[in-house]
Amino acid sequence: MQENVSLRNYNTFGLESRAQFFEEVQSTAALTEIIKNPLWKETPKFILGGGSNILFTQHVDALVIKIAIKGIELIKEDEDFIWLHAGAGEKWHDFVTYCVQHDYAGVENLSLIPGTIGAAPMQNIGAYGVEIKDVVETVEAISVETAEMRIFSKEECLFGYRESVFKHALKGKYIITGVVFRLNKKPVYHVEYGDIQKTLTEMHVEKPSIKAISEAVIRIRESKLPDPAKIGNAGSFFKNPEISAEQFDKLKIDFPTVPGYPTIPGFVKVPAGWLIEQAGWKGYRDGDVGVHARQALVLVNYGAGTGDQIKALSETIQKSVYEKYGINLSAEVNFV
Ligand code: EPU
Repeated sequence: MQENVSLRNYNTFGLESRAQFFEEVQSTAALTEIIKNPLWKETPKFILGGGSNILFTQHVDALVIKIAIKGIELIKEDEDFIWLHAGAGEKWHDFVTYCVQHDYAGVENLSLIPGTIGAAPMQNIGAYGVEIKDVVETVEAISVETAEMRIFSKEECLFGYRESVFKHALKGKYIITGVVFRLNKKPVYHVEYGDIQKTLTEMHVEKPSIKAISEAVIRIRESKLPDPAKIGNAGSFFKNPEISAEQFDKLKIDFPTVPGYPTIPGFVKVPAGWLIEQAGWKGYRDGDVGVHARQALVLVNYGAGTGDQIKALSETIQKSVYEKYGINLSAEVNFV
């Protein structure tokens, strides 16, 4: 176990925060041993995945456990599907790359999303019409109280838009150690979302393939989203708000160009990026924090920004959006 460790390289915002204690865990057995240690119960702890959805506003006076359980294994297959087990510490995009290379379909639309396998189910990561709930078979997790392993079925995960049971009823109660995915050997392509079809056409792709879609998604993401290795960020900072169809119709009167996507009957999802851009924030910069110039939903740290500054900016944006449209934006990023 290390003491007083900088977490700057462990969060994609690149924020300085120090862990009182830090331990990297390579296996389920090692994690079980730590939980069974008599000192565990009285030790404050913090579980870290890829750090791609976290805003550190303070030091972490706790034992930070970095999950580094690796491995991608084939579990079973039939004519139509293939089941893969991935360790929680695998990088999400490495897993996607593995699937694309082997021609296993289902996660190509989720290319280049930062973070780890273990963190992905927490907020049911999603992009371009696909969410990981569409490919998850089971989630394996260890109880922080008893060290017992529990296998969660997809239904038990209670997946929703950037939501799962692990963020709510079971928050802090389980540590995800691995995920079993069911991938498709007979691909069903999702090209109707965002700019995928347009990008495929630009790439001169006539017939979509797993590889081509993955490449198109990578192109789109690289053109809009800042690379965390260069500019600190955590992807979308806010969720896209869902409002009633009635509120949407009223909004349309004042803002005729507001985009909206019907979700469940009677509700419409409005792109937070549009609301923020139209409120004048796109490209805004104050010192080393700001709003990305090509995607207003992404807050950025140009280097020396602090978590408190980003938090303050996010609150100012929330207030401004509320005053202009009467819509409350809620953060997708977790504040620590
Ligand atoms: N828009 C603007 N200005 C902006 C950004 C967006 O007007 O600066 C409007 C446009 O109308 C655009 C629409 O918002 O057509 C949608 O924008 P985009 O396709 O970039 O997607 P998003 O709704 O901003 C969501 C996810 C992303 C995911 C993309 C693609 C959330 C909170 N975010 O963003 O996920 O990659 O769709 O599917 O749902 C993440 O969660 O970190 C993330 C990056």
